[in-house]
Amino acid sequence: MKSYARQRNAEAASPYTPVPARVEEAVKLTDREMFFVLTMPAPIDHTPGQFLMVGLPGYGEAPISISSPRCGTRRVELCIREVGNLTRAIHRLGQGDILWVRGPFGRGFPVDEMERKDILFVAGGIGLVPMRSLIKTMLNKRRSFGRLTLLYGVKSPDEILFKEELKEWKRAGMDIRITVDRPHPGWDGNVGVVTTLIGPLRVDDSKTVAVLVGPPVMYKYVILSLGNKKLRGTEIYLSLERRMKCGLGKCGHCQINSAYACQEGPVFSLADIRHLNEAI
Ligand SMILES: Cc1cc2nc3c(=O)[nH]c(=O)nc-3n(C[C@H](O)[C@H](O)[C@H](O)COP(=O)(O)OP(=O)(O)OC[C@H]3O[C@@H](n4cnc5c(N)ncnc54)[C@H](O)[C@@H]3O)c2cc1C
Ligand code: FES
Repeated sequence: MKSYARQRNAEAASPYTPVPARVEEAVKLTDREMFFVLTMPAPIDHTPGQFLMVGLPGYGEAPISISSPRCGTRRVELCIREVGNLTRAIHRLGQGDILWVRGPFGRGFPVDEMERKDILFVAGGIGLVPMRSLIKTMLNKRRSFGRLTLLYGVKSPDEILFKEELKEWKRAGMDIRITVDRPHPGWDGNVGVVTTLIGPLRVDDSKTVAVLVGPPVMYKYVILSLGNKKLRGTEIYLSLERRMKCGLGKCGHCQINSAYACQEGPVFSLADIRHLNEAI
């Protein structure tokens, strides 16, 4: 296996050629999401917010965010929601199976520039997947950052991802506030959309950076609420989801006016995309 992996890795000098990643763990997190631990043929270095093109022969390829922290090893963690042909096939995989991957691609969060800042994470649903990579990277260097606050909105309590880790992050000093869209039997926490958590929050606009990952509909309202907290566009980062094919700035599938989300994004500062029609 080792020499085969090495050979595949050499062949994969082209960014269009996928390499085999071995599934080490495949764990059901919710009705729709599965968590995968992969071993890559060679160590990869990624920035939180970057993605892999993940594929299976006969089913195609799709962009999937790396959910593990920056580490420079062969281990990669993904969390995949079953929504179509490819993701349904990936959900059938188990330990020892092979996923074909290219990347990492795209521009992630400027982690180093965020040092010494208070970070306000605002996640909606599966948006916690790429955000987990950033959160865990920051928790690994906890003293380099100020206050870490996570506002997390989901439709219902059974959609909350990484439940055990949320408790760990709380123990590590994060302020975590979760809300569900509608009242639910047994749920005694906050009810309402994620913006309802922003109003009561104390935000120091002189040293806060906000990180937003969620469905497009969330961004408009969260950005308005953050504007009320006097946060500037240069201090707000968000990840934009677009249909992607090549991941390499060639096919144009991910184009937002003049910007290619696969290359200049998926992470943009709000200041960078304000002038782009239909970005949000
Ligand atoms: C940067 C990035 C990171 C991502 N990270 C993750 C991740 O970490 N985990 C995860 O689960 N998903 C992630 N996604 C989403 C994932 O790539 C898509 O859900 C992918 O399309 C799934 O492929 P599929 O073949 O299973 O489903 P598809 O057959 O592609 O269908 C997926 C959904 O998209 C709709 N759809 C299909 N074709 C089109 C079209 N042409 N235009 C508009 N809508 C269409 C379908 O109706 C369906 O609801 C990410 C996407 C991007 C851009
Ligand atoms: S996915 Fe092909 S140009 Fe972006």
